[in-house]
Amino acid sequence: MSASEKLFETSRRIFPGGVNSPVRYYDPFPIFIKSGSGAKIRDEDDREYIDYCLGFGPHILGHSHPSIVNSITKQVKDIISPGTVNRAEQELGSAILDAVKEDQIRFTNSGTEATMHVIRLARGYNKRKIIIKMEGGYHGSHDYSLIKSGSGNLTFGVPSSDGIPEEVSSTVIPVSFNDLPQIEEIFKLKGKEIAAVIAEPVMGNAGVILPEDGFLMGLRNLCDKYGALLIFDEVITGFRFHYGSYQQLAGVKADLTTYGKIIGGGMPIGAITGPSEIMRNFSPSGKVYEAGTFAGNPVSMKAGTAALEVLRSEDYSRIDLLTDTLLTSLLNALENAGIKATGNRIGSMFQFFLTNRKVRSYSEATMSDAPLYMDIFREALSNGVFLAPGQYETNFVSFSHTPDIIRETVERMVKSIDKVSEDRRKRK
Ligand SMILES: Cc1ncc(COP(=O)(O)O)c(C=O)c1O
Repeated sequence: MSASEKLFETSRRIFPGGVNSPVRYYDPFPIFIKSGSGAKIRDEDDREYIDYCLGFGPHILGHSHPSIVNSITKQVKDIISPGTVNRAEQELGSAILDAVKEDQIRFTNSGTEATMHVIRLARGYNKRKIIIKMEGGYHGSHDYSLIKSGSGNLTFGVPSSDGIPEEVSSTVIPVSFNDLPQIEEIFKLKGKEIAAVIAEPVMGNAGVILPEDGFLMGLRNLCDKYGALLIFDEVITGFRFHYGSYQQLAGVKADLTTYGKIIGGGMPIGAITGPSEIMRNFSPSGKVYEAGTFAGNPVSMKAGTAALEVLRSEDYSRIDLLTDTLLTSLLNALENAGIKATGNRIGSMFQFFLTNRKVRSYSEATMSDAPLYMDIFREALSNGVFLAPGQYETNFVSFSHTPDIIRETVERMVKSIDKVSEDRRKRK
């Protein structure tokens, strides 16, 4: 019995389902990771993996980047979490605001908190109730976002969640990403009640799904026409494609934006940015309550600042290229093995779907053979490649991945895919 299998027996006893976040579970048992450096992680059995899950997104510089480690180490010696205002929060706050060209920022402890509070802010600001969200869009695990949500929610086939009062779910209308006419119809019916549209500008929790030309601008125009706020959830996309937001590249500005993951350098974090005219409605200057004991804690702040300092001078085209090479090679390997597949990629985020159809929406993503993806995932794991552990998650490439690591990954993946294909043939 492996160390991970043994450890998981204990975890099953002490945690519901053996985990502290559902996407961490996969059959037959998840591997326990004890260390990581750059593009590689090591498990409790001392096996090494090339990592493409990368902590579900924060580690764009790879694991335990020395600048981040040094910065945190220094900070914890001074103080961990005073629960007071501090210089470190100013430092990171200013760096983010400069990069994304916004007036104000409020830090939270997670992306979930950021999207939960931004929805309250939008409703408080324009005194309306209804929120429009994308089917398969994931904004964390709170009541407003767990309606036709993605990520683990999609993996486990739960369209929503028990425990969400109808009074809450009835205020959230799920719509289809990239389907502007459908969204326009809803605006025509409910326009005056719609507080905000919230969307990941690139969907990252139904696999990777790119916005089609004109879709984000269409959302912007509808929001303007009906007086609703446009919220982009950039928890995954913020600082992922360049030193700033995705919306800057897309040329479509949201009213309010949420961030997380990368901006915390691997420590827990979330943030909301926007114009002071809206942001000042947060308490204590306004009447929309939002708070957190650990919000703006200097350890997360220092980790984020260190990460952004490194990112500022990174050449993002380097990881774009590596990701392109990797995805193209994976799709070739799948084709050679007789497995129908299609891939979506933007910058360093990618996913392959096991279907011959293009994937432009959540419903098209669900056409993929998700159990086959998990077979490939498990085989890759046994060959030392840690992919995102679910068809509806995103794979990431970091600045620590080198051309040699990508080559090694492709070799291991060809072997894994061929084995899965061979096993399937035998079973038939
Ligand atoms: C787009 C998006 N928003 C919000 C969240 C929630 O962030 P957190 O897990 O930090 O609460 C996630 C998490 O994966 C996400 O992908």
